[in-house]
Amino acid sequence: MSSPRVAIIMGSKNDWGVMKAAEETLAKLGIASDARVISAHRTPDRLTRYLSEAEQSGIEVVIAGAGAAAHLAGVTAAHTVLPVLGVPIDSSALQGLDALLATVQMPGGIPVATFAIGKAGAKNAALFAVAILAGRDPAVRKRLEEFREAQSAAVPERPY
Ligand code: RP5
Repeated sequence: MSSPRVAIIMGSKNDWGVMKAAEETLAKLGIASDARVISAHRTPDRLTRYLSEAEQSGIEVVIAGAGAAAHLAGVTAAHTVLPVLGVPIDSSALQGLDALLATVQMPGGIPVATFAIGKAGAKNAALFAVAILAGRDPAVRKRLEEFREAQSAAVPERPY
């Protein structure tokens, strides 16, 4: 696979169990990604350093997963004009509802596209990233169409 076009960042190594669904989905569609543990509050310098270099290194979309008082996606979006896709992670006592609200409730001006809590959100964020890339890359668009066709074909007509 070529150089990473999508960054997958997460607030903790403990988020990888959820966020690897994004990496796997991107890989299925032939998109290389770069997965990093970057916390907006524990490693703020790592975040700004990574984002300042991301665009130059070929990153076109950033997927940011975080749990609890999840500000990673919002802070990321503040530092880049690349599209930021937020995945709320169910790692806290509130089972991701806190992260969902923290990620989705961005004040007007700095958008974060927010997905479902947990693995479904990580998978859909990856598919959305592919859809963004598909708009400028016909080969990616073809793979996305084929993925949809295969997904439809895998659904049985009857439940038994
Ligand atoms: C967030 O806090 C992370 O995204 C993680 O989901 C949550 C808990 O982190 P750990 O204490 O498990 O490292 O920053």
